[in-house]
Amino acid sequence: MTRRANVLTDVFCVLIVILSLMFLMSFPTSLSAKVTGICSNCHTMHNSQNGDDVARTGTGVGWDGSGQLTGGSTAGGAQMTTLITSCVGCHTSTTNQTVVNLGGSSIPIVYNTVQPVQPLAGGNFYWVAQGDDTKGHNVYGISAADSNLGEAPGFTGGACGSGSRCHVSLAQPPSPSNFNRGSCQGCHVFTYHHEDNGVYRFLKGHGASIGSSLSNARRNITTYPDYVLGVEDSDWEKTTSAVDHNYYKGTTTAYTNDGDELTNQQTLTSFCSGCHGDFHGPQSGNDGMGSASPWIRHPTDIALPATGEYSSYNPVTAYSTEAPVAWVNPSTPDRAEAIVMCLSCHKAHGSDQSDMLRWDYTDMIVASGNSGGCFTCHTDKN
Ligand code: HEC
Ligand code: HEC
Ligand code: HEC
Ligand code: HEC
Ligand code: HEC
Ligand code: HEC
Repeated sequence: MTRRANVLTDVFCVLIVILSLMFLMSFPTSLSAKVTGICSNCHTMHNSQNGDDVARTGTGVGWDGSGQLTGGSTAGGAQMTTLITSCVGCHTSTTNQTVVNLGGSSIPIVYNTVQPVQPLAGGNFYWVAQGDDTKGHNVYGISAADSNLGEAPGFTGGACGSGSRCHVSLAQPPSPSNFNRGSCQGCHVFTYHHEDNGVYRFLKGHGASIGSSLSNARRNITTYPDYVLGVEDSDWEKTTSAVDHNYYKGTTTAYTNDGDELTNQQTLTSFCSGCHGDFHGPQSGNDGMGSASPWIRHPTDIALPATGEYSSYNPVTAYSTEAPVAWVNPSTPDRAEAIVMCLSCHKAHGSDQSDMLRWDYTDMIVASGNSGGCFTCHTDKN
C-alpha cells in the first residue's frame, strides 16, 4: 500500500470510531446501580458503638437534614445483613429532599415525612401516609391497610390463603403468610444492592409455582428470569429532560396466561399484572383488555400508533415524563416501538392524585383546549 493510501485508511478509521462513538452516545446506556460509599454508612458490624445500640427501628426512622438517621428507637440485638435500619427506614427522609447524600453514598428517598420538592420516578409515599388511601400503595411501616380495597383490584391469583397475602395487602406485618416479605418486598421481592445484574430497580417476581416457602434460590435471575428490563436513569429522575429519564421495557406480544407473563415479557406492565392480572390480559370473558379497538379496558403493552392523533406525540424527541411510554428495546428507542404501559398514567409508589395517577383527572375536559395528561397521546380529544 502507498503512504497516501495508508493516511486515507487512518483518517477513515478515525472517522468510523468517531461516528460509532456518536452513535453509541445517542442511545441510553445502563449506569451503575450498585451502592457506593463507606461500609459504615449502611452497616453496623456488631450493632454496638460505645456500648450503645446503633440500628434504628419502628415508625419515624429517616434521614434528617444533617445526614443523621433519626426517629424511631434504637434496636437491640443482631440485624439482618448487619444493616443500620430497615428498607423503609433507609429510604425515608424527614426533610423535603428526595436524594440523601452521605459522603460517597446517594440514597434514593421514596417516603418523605414532609411534602417532597421533587418526587423520584416512582412517586412518593408521602400522600398515602397523610391518610388518603387512594394516593398510594399502602405498605407496612408507612400506612395501615387500605380502607377501600380488600385486595389488589383485578387480582387473578388463586385462593387468598397463606402466601397470597401480598396480592391482598402490602400493609400486613412480616409473617409466614407473606413469606416475611410484604411491604416494600411485596414488590422488590429480592434486592441486589451490591450488584449490577440488569434487574430494573430490583423488580423481580418470586418465580412461578411458589409452593409453601420462598427459598433464597429464587433470587437467581438465570434460573428465574421473571424480572423487568430497562435502562435506569442515574438520579432516579430527580432531574429530567427529553433524553434524561428511565427507559422501560414494553412489548406488543399478546399475553397468554397470568402466571408466566413476567418471565415471558419482562415488561413493567407484566410486573404490575402479577397482582392486577385482569387489567391487562389474557382475554377471557370480562378479564383482560380485549385485543383491538373497541377495547374493554384501557390497553397497555400495545404500540403507540404513529398515525392519527398519536402522530403528534413523538416520545423519541419529545418524551413526556407526565405520560411516559415503554420501548420494545429500551436501549435503542424507536418511534415505531413506543409502547403504552401502566406507568403511562400511574406512579408506582404513590402520587398527589387519587388512584396514584400522574395528573389531575378532573382537569381532562373535552373541548377546553387542554393539554398534558391523557391529551399527551389523545391529542385531538381536547
Ligand atoms: C449505601 C449503603 C451500603 C453501603 C455503603 C454498603 N452496603 Fe453492603 N449492603 C447494603 C444493603 C441495603 C444490603 C442488603 C442486601 C442486598 O440488597 O444485597 C447490603 C448487603 C451486604 C452484604 C450481604 C449481601 C451480599 O451482596 O453479599 C455484604 C457482604 C455487604 N453488604 C458488605 C458490604 C461492605 C464490605 C461494604 C463496604 C465496602 C458495604 N457492604 C457497603 C447497603 C450498603
Ligand atoms: C442502609 C441503607 C439501605 C437499606 C437498609 C436499604 N436500601 Fe435500598 N438502596 C440504598 C441505596 C444507597 C440505594 C442506591 C443505590 C445506587 O446508588 O444506585 C438503594 C437503592 C434501592 C432501590 C433502587 C435500585 C436502583 O436500581 O436504583 C430499590 C428498589 C431499593 N433500594 C429497595 C430496597 C429494599 C426493598 C430494601 C429492604 C430489603 C432496601 N432497599 C434497603 C440504601 C438502602
Ligand atoms: C407496588 C409495587 C411496589 C412497592 C410496594 C414498592 N415499590 Fe419501589 N418501585 C416499584 C417500581 C415499579 C419502581 C420503578 C418506578 C419507575 O421507574 O418509574 C420502583 C422504584 C423504587 C426505587 C427507585 C427510585 C424511584 O422512585 O424510581 C426505590 C429506591 C424503591 N422503589 C424503594 C422502595 C421502598 C423502600 C419501598 C417500600 C417503602 C418500595 N419501593 C415499595 C414498585 C414498588
Ligand atoms: C405485590 C402486589 C402488587 C403489585 C406488583 C402491584 N400492586 Fe397495585 N395494588 C396492590 C394492592 C394489594 C392494592 C390495594 C391496596 C392498596 O391500595 O395498597 C393495590 C392498589 C393499586 C391501585 C389503587 C390505589 C388505591 O389505593 O386506590 C393502583 C392504581 C395500583 N395498585 C397500580 C399498580 C401499578 C401501576 C403497579 C405496577 C407498577 C402495581 N399496582 C403493582 C398490589 C400490587
Ligand atoms: C401513552 C399514551 C396514552 C395515554 C397517556 C392515554 N392513552 Fe388512551 N389510548 C392510547 C392508545 C395507543 C390507545 C389504543 C389506540 C388503538 O386502538 O390503536 C388508547 C385507547 C383509549 C381508549 C379506547 C379507544 C378504543 O378505540 O377502544 C380510550 C377511551 C382512551 N384511550 C382514553 C384515555 C384516557 C381517558 C386517558 C387519560 C386517563 C388516556 N386514554 C391516556 C394511548 C394513550
Ligand atoms: C390510560 C391511562 C391508564 C393506564 C394505561 C392504566 N390505568 Fe389504571 N387507572 C387509570 C384511571 C384514570 C383510573 C381511575 C379509575 C377509572 O377511571 O377506571 C385507574 C385506576 C386503577 C386502579 C384502581 C382501581 C380501583 O378499583 O380502585 C388500579 C388498581 C389500576 N388502575 C391499575 C392499573 C394497571 C395494573 C395498569 C396496567 C396494566 C393500569 N392501571 C393502566 C388510568 C390508567
